[in-house]
Amino acid sequence: MPEVTYRGISLECESGATLRTVLFNNAVSPHSGVTKAVNCGGNSTCGTCAVRIVDGPIGERTVKEQTRLAVSTHDDADNIRLACQYRVTDDVVIEKAWDTPISADAA
Ligand code: FES
Repeated sequence: MPEVTYRGISLECESGATLRTVLFNNAVSPHSGVTKAVNCGGNSTCGTCAVRIVDGPIGERTVKEQTRLAVSTHDDADNIRLACQYRVTDDVVIEKAWDTPISADAA
């Protein structure tokens, strides 16, 4: 089973699971602040679930994800992915993109 690691904590998940779901299933949110309550629900339109892939496969962005990140006012580095679009297939280390902390409490 692949592991998602953030801040030194490892979360096991089924291969192919969506990163956002993996985080939520472990009482962690990729959102911060008000976006924990106000987000697109995983439809790749709000961009508030963005994470940076620090180590592990970056994978390919979905078309919706590419579209959303193309209009982002934030850093559009190649290792930025939307947690709602990223499928975990191997061990991966992430951090919240754009220097906002990953919330320890689920949305
Ligand atoms: S939850 Fe809105 S883009 Fe991922």
